Amino acid sequence: MTDLKGLILSGGKGTRLRPITHTSAKQLVPVANKPVLFYGIEAMVQAGITEIGIIIAPETGDEIRESAGDGSRFGDAVGITYIPQAEPLGLAHAVLTAEPFLGDSPFVMYLGDNLLRDGIVTLTEAFKANAPEALILLTKVPDPEHYGVAELSDGRVVALAEKPAEPKTDLALVGVYMFNKSIFDAARAIKPSPRGELEITDAIQYLVDQGMNVEPHLVDGWWKDTGRLEDMLQANRLVLEDLETSVEGTLDNDSSVEGRVVIEPGAELVRSVVRGPAVIGAGTKLTDAYVGPYTAIDERVTVERAEIEYSIVLADSQISDLGARMEASLIGKHSRITRTDGMPRTFRLLVGDNCEISLV
Ligand code: DAU
Repeated sequence: MTDLKGLILSGGKGTRLRPITHTSAKQLVPVANKPVLFYGIEAMVQAGITEIGIIIAPETGDEIRESAGDGSRFGDAVGITYIPQAEPLGLAHAVLTAEPFLGDSPFVMYLGDNLLRDGIVTLTEAFKANAPEALILLTKVPDPEHYGVAELSDGRVVALAEKPAEPKTDLALVGVYMFNKSIFDAARAIKPSPRGELEITDAIQYLVDQGMNVEPHLVDGWWKDTGRLEDMLQANRLVLEDLETSVEGTLDNDSSVEGRVVIEPGAELVRSVVRGPAVIGAGTKLTDAYVGPYTAIDERVTVERAEIEYSIVLADSQISDLGARMEASLIGKHSRITRTDGMPRTFRLLVGDNCEISLV
């Protein structure tokens, strides 16, 4: 088999992560202070894939180009080609958009908001060895109606359905797929789904109907689609669970870190406690603060007289004097959250569209 190419889908709209995605690509929301997208790129590079195409949308494409760059930050031989998709018309539409880049090469397609703990090395090896038309990954989930769902018989794929109201199994399609060039004809043969998209699930069903070999693999390690807030927080927790301690920032005598903690260079703790697993980004300053397990605080954030647990705080935010512990929260870039003691005792909010706030 010739070398595999990589295709990462980082277009789309990210409606379920609004308001963060009003101004930013969902694939760039950091998990343990690293954009979700980078985990997919790294998984490909680890599997020996160096020619990577990234599908981008008009609204967020520039930001993605800026952060992933030409690919050299992921390895000397790695090259990234950006492929604009004018409208998010579906995953199979994205594949057709990338056809000139992919040519005749077999390829791995990775959804830019997915995270797979164990990478893809064993899967690319199976794909190269068996050379099926397609290789799909499946995992059991409690809520299959939110995913593509597969039905197997004697270990073979017999039917696939995209987000069926009444799923026949609990086997969800994970957002990592391997294809040879027969997927292009399949994507051309199908019609848009009720949600108006050319579904990759339908294209794979077409391959099955044509009698082609679609090889299913069950995922052993955890997998997360980070499309929703709860998933994002869980992905952050799962990645932080594998964290290796490294304290490069500064702590005063009244500060301490417990458990697996990363304090990046230039971060500063003053009379503060960080209980891991947690990561504190470069240039962030904690003063009289407590940061609890499963929290990722990005770069240049200030936290003063506040407690934060099981949360993600994006860069350049300021959090102070909360009065109660904040948890299960995702705070966007450049946000300011504080409490004032003056009268009248009122809430003063500047809240963007689609925000969610719950008060004690
Ligand atoms: O996460 C796994 C699921 O991903 C599968 O179980 C489903 O079968 C599959 O259809 C897909 O479902 P989602 O509804 O979660 O896909 P989403 O719209 O979130 O898009 C996935 C990624 O692809 C995301 O990073 C955005 C990007 N995308 C999406 C569309 C529709 C594009 O680049 N172009 C597009 O046209």
